[in-house]
Formats: sequence, structure tokens, C-alpha cells
Amino acid sequence: MPSQSCSRLLGTLLAVASLHHIALAAPTGSSTAPVATNLLGFSPSNTVKNEDTDNIQYALAAGQTDTGTIGAFLDFNNVENPQPIRGTKGGTDPGPRTEAYDLLNPDKLAPPGSDHGNVNNAQWPMGLSHMKLGLGRAGWSRQQNIDNIPTATEMAGVDMRLEEGAYRELHWHKAAEWSYVLNGSVRVEAVNEDGQTFVDDLNAGDVWFFPPGVPHSLQGLKGGVEFLLVFDDGSFSEDNTFLASELFATQPREVLSKNFGGLPLSAWANIPPGELFIFPGTDAPADISEQNIVGSAGLVPTQQSYTYHSSKATPNHVTAGGTVTIIDPLVFPIASEFSAAIVTVKPGAIREIHWHTSSDEWNFFIAGSARIGIYAAQGNARTFDYHAGDTGYIPKSMTHYVENVGQDDVIFIEVLQADHFSDISVGQWVGLLPPQIVIDTLNLTNETVSQFKKEKQYIVQGDVVA
Ligand SMILES: *[C@@H]1O[C@H](CO)[C@@H](O)[C@H](O)[C@H]1NC(C)=O
Ligand SMILES: *[C@@H]1O[C@H](CO)[C@@H](O)[C@H](O)[C@H]1NC(C)=O
Ligand SMILES: *[C@@H]1O[C@H](CO)[C@@H](O)[C@H](O)[C@H]1NC(C)=O
Repeated sequence: MPSQSCSRLLGTLLAVASLHHIALAAPTGSSTAPVATNLLGFSPSNTVKNEDTDNIQYALAAGQTDTGTIGAFLDFNNVENPQPIRGTKGGTDPGPRTEAYDLLNPDKLAPPGSDHGNVNNAQWPMGLSHMKLGLGRAGWSRQQNIDNIPTATEMAGVDMRLEEGAYRELHWHKAAEWSYVLNGSVRVEAVNEDGQTFVDDLNAGDVWFFPPGVPHSLQGLKGGVEFLLVFDDGSFSEDNTFLASELFATQPREVLSKNFGGLPLSAWANIPPGELFIFPGTDAPADISEQNIVGSAGLVPTQQSYTYHSSKATPNHVTAGGTVTIIDPLVFPIASEFSAAIVTVKPGAIREIHWHTSSDEWNFFIAGSARIGIYAAQGNARTFDYHAGDTGYIPKSMTHYVENVGQDDVIFIEVLQADHFSDISVGQWVGLLPPQIVIDTLNLTNETVSQFKKEKQYIVQGDVVA
């Protein structure tokens, strides 16, 4: 039977093919249009039309004609018709083009001359992510993972909004979840495997953490909340979490009734048929103690707290160029493999060139405009531009700096998979080497090397003198 239908199909295909062949070979005045040949190849009657694409109107940004290796940031705002030109290289782009991309990514349009070779994509704007819309206008979520940044194997991120009273429904997942509250306030709740309970309210600037498998829920408080989630798995997806709604919908009701001690089948008559994900709820009581349910195991112990009120922490490093506030297991022990820094970089200043020894770095930009230059070995280096709402990803050992290229403070988060926050500062490294080694290697003068500092600077206030 299968072989019969197979040979019948083959016969049909052959018949179609030979019909087609006949039509090509012998066009007739019938339904098959003749194939035009008069547009193929050279013909004296085909002449090209000379548009003057060499004579387009444009202006150059400050610094654009400098030697490429100076590589200063080019601000194309208020520059007429920005062009891919740097120093003596490049040329004009007559179009087609979308100038909005060029204004956001000047280091892509006219890269510094120091960029070289290929560096994998290190950037994903959440503004280009698909929005998963919650039920009843209760909120939304969007994500960046390995699908958007192929090198982002260790971590993935989600940006989520819950309106006042809205829930991210009760759920759990295989990955560990570290979260930073971006705006507003939220109530978080969890029950662990020992039957210990946890509930807390957080503000913008605070963090929470849930170990793999620990079920939790989140509810927007007065005015709602927006937060960032970081997972210790680059292929994490918000579409792949274990949900209370789905769990109950997928159990036989006979089993549910038995499991809950012989409740009637009618008890389950109105459960949701499937995923709720983000949905409107009853406003959380302002008095959190009303939701402080305790079993015989009591509360999750303070040392194991799932939240850390980092909004009230003082910065670990304060420099003329900005501040660094570290949130790592030394202050937030439950998040034993998440080490983060909340970094503020003032206009013109730079988070110094550094690398991380044991972890990739996941970034999120909260405010301002910055550029990151990545050196990736084998001569490869590339510069990327970032704005509020963008994620970034820098594989371990690759050097990077974060330069504020805008008029306002840059605020961004560095997240590592590490038991404490650390980096190798290039400035400190060469500052601690015997000077002759540096002089021999980099062909610098004694005067230059004598200026190197022996301590990490973290953020350097920058006024570059030509
Ligand atoms: C938080 O949201 C309010 C209301 O939209 C806005 O005015 C404020 O700038 C937001 N804060 C941050 C840090 O984005
Ligand atoms: C070091 O710099 C000096 C002065 O510019 C130059 O003459 C010399 O060739 C350089 N040496 C090397 C090894 O590049
Ligand atoms: C640099 O300093 C070292 C040690 O102080 C000295 O021996 C050397 O001559 C100096 N080199 C130059 C080029 O000044």
C-alpha cells in the first residue's frame, strides 16, 4: 500500500515535470506566459541611469576626521545625515537606511579604528524583544536569552511589569532566579522544601533570589512594579516555568480530590483551564503581617532570607567618576552564585578596563547612554552602544570598559556567576608590574608608567587631553 501510493505520487511528479518542460520549450499563446529574455545580459538598448549618489548632503560629527585609532565617541545627534566615515576610512551611505539605528549605534555606523576582526554580538535591547502580554491589562514580560545573544550561555534576563494588585502567578523553575526591582514596589512570597515560609515587600533598588525549584509568587503593590529577573541558564525562557494553574489543570480531578483528603470533585469546578502567568488580583493587604502564614517549621531564617534591601545599602566604592554598590553572597548569602554590582558612571567618566576571571558578565542598563569596548583575544575588538533598557553580555576573560557617552548619569548592573564580586583591573595590573616589564612590552616612557596607580580605580573621571 505505501509503495503503491509512493509510485503513484512519483508518476504525478514526472507528469508535472514533463508538462513544465513542454511549456518552457514551446511557449504558445495559451495560459502559460512566455519567459521574457530581452532583460537578460547585455543589450545596446539597456542603459544605466546615473544618479548622483556621490553628491549627497551630509555633515561630519566632532572627532569624525581624527585618526581612527583615537576612536572618540561620535555624537550624531544634530548632525545632518550621519555617514560611515572615520578618519581616512569609510564612505557615504546614500540609502536605503533607517537613521534612527545610526543615532542609537554610532560605534556600529563609524567604528573606532581600534576595532578589529570579529567579536560576537554582545548586546540586545529589550525594546526589540517580543512582549508577552498579561491577562486583563495586568502587566507584561519580555526576555533576552541565548536566542538573542548566542554567546549568552550562563545567564538570561527578563524584564517584567505588574500593575497594582497584579500577580506573576505562583510558579517555580529549574534555574535559580535573581531579581532587581527597577521601579515601584512588590510583595514576594515563597515556601521552601522544609515548609518554612517567607514574605517581604521590596522597593526599587532591592533584590530577591529564589533557589531552583522553590515556588514563589510576586504581586504588584500600590502603583505597581517593574523588575528585572536574571537566571543562571542562558537558555532559560519565561515560557518554560512550572505554574500552579497548569499543575491543577493537568491533574485528574479524582486525584486532586484524593490528594486533598477527600474533597468533593465539585471543589475543582471553577479552576482555571490553563496558564494564568500574569493576571489581575485582589490588592495585597497593606499590613504584610496578614499574609505572614507560619507552619510548624516557622519562617525562613534571616541568614537565608530570599530578599536583600540593597536600596538602603551604602556604595562600596565612591570615586570622582561614580559609585559601585556590590550585592554578592557576602551580604546576600542565599544567592550563593550571584554576584552583582550596581554601577553609576558620571558623564564623561569610565568604568575602568577590566575582566572577570571565572564568570561571564550579564548587563542591564537602567539609565543613560554608554559604550562598551570588548577585546576578545586573537586581535579581535569591537565597540557596542547601550541605552536604558538594553542588555549586554561579555564572556569571561574578555576585557571591557563602560564609558558614559551621554549628558546624564549611566546606571547599569553587572551580574556574575561567582561567590564574590571581583575583577582584574588593567590599570592596577600594569601598575603593580615591575616598570621595566611594562616599558619593554608597551614601549611607554618612564614618565607615563610612573603615573600608573597600584589600586583599582573602578570608575575614572574623564577629561582626555589631546
Ligand atoms: C518610575 O516610574 C515613574 C512613573 O512612570 C517614572 O516617572 C520614573 O522615572 C520611573 N523611575 C525610573 C527609575 O525609571
Ligand atoms: C618605541 O618608540 C620609539 C619612539 O617612538 C620608536 O622609535 C621605536 O621604534 C619604538 N620601539 C618599538 C620596539 O616599537
Ligand atoms: C627609566 O628609569 C629607569 C630606572 O629608574 C632608568 O634606569 C632608565 O634609564 C630610565 N629610562 C629612561 C628612558 O628614562
